[in-house]
Amino acid sequence: AKITAYGVRPNERPYFDRLNHDHFEMTYVADLLTHANADQARGADGVLVRGNCVVDRENLSRFSKWGIRAVFTRSVGVNHIDLAAAAEFGIQIARVPGYSPYAVAELALTLGLSLFRHVDAAVQQTRQGDFRVPASYFSRELHTATVGIIGAGRIGMAEARLYRGLGAQVMAYTPHPKVADRQVVTFGDRATVLGHSDIVSVHVPYIPGENDQSLDQHFLAQMKPQAVLVNTARGELADPAAILHALDAGQLGGYGADVVTHETQLIGQDFGQVATVPDAAVRQLLAHPRVMVTPHMGSFTEPALEDMIKVSYQNFREWWATGRVTNGVSVRTH
Ligand code: COI
Repeated sequence: AKITAYGVRPNERPYFDRLNHDHFEMTYVADLLTHANADQARGADGVLVRGNCVVDRENLSRFSKWGIRAVFTRSVGVNHIDLAAAAEFGIQIARVPGYSPYAVAELALTLGLSLFRHVDAAVQQTRQGDFRVPASYFSRELHTATVGIIGAGRIGMAEARLYRGLGAQVMAYTPHPKVADRQVVTFGDRATVLGHSDIVSVHVPYIPGENDQSLDQHFLAQMKPQAVLVNTARGELADPAAILHALDAGQLGGYGADVVTHETQLIGQDFGQVATVPDAAVRQLLAHPRVMVTPHMGSFTEPALEDMIKVSYQNFREWWATGRVTNGVSVRTH
């Protein structure tokens, strides 16, 4: 079978080739899927995308016309896919429900610690030749601090374990806590977790129309004053105006994010300077001295990449062998 895979960076290709035990006929496209390069999938039996690929009605309609019945993503998140349109066109969607959770967890930890110890601000300062140590860099130590995990799934719990290893207390809020996880974290309702935590890290799926901008004024007001917020999940979960306001009002200590809004027009591109980044809210975040943004690179690690590719190939193998796929995704029903 023929698969067109989008968003495959040059260093990823050897992994795709090495793990291709089914000898799928691969076409690699380095760029993420857009309207302009959808035709690279013409003639393929299946399409493999990642986050920030444009899998909207328009592209799904094209794929359907070309006889493509399987559009799979190697991401955990599926918010970039129009599931209703896929159902209409009879296109099967599948995802990778989990890859090495340490990929995202380690980055979240790094962002959290950098803001907690004011490392980013200090480095920006010494780059200007300024070696003063302002009172604002005075810090607590992690072993006396509490970390709050919002969303105790695979990634959230991996981060909880990392923080526990560094001596922090870890609390977590999640809709369905697992009994075994109580050995690692103290579960509490959201307000309690936010009220106790010096670093809050969010690991929940973004469900369009359901939890847009849920990291809002109300959420931030429940946080401990001067605590740090980390979002490595999805930019759409955050309300940038509320975050900027909380930072400037002295309520929020720092914001670290591996994700921003409207990523499809940003990720993978070099704008040369902040002023030409085509999103006002993102520009404002980037310009703030207590905001750290990375370009959605949490999953860009060797173990995560291997897992993503292995499970994606498994998904295609199962689909073409049985007409079903265990990791299939359909429109959420409530
Ligand atoms: C996901 O797996 O959901 C991600 O965010 C990573 C993806 C963009 C490759």
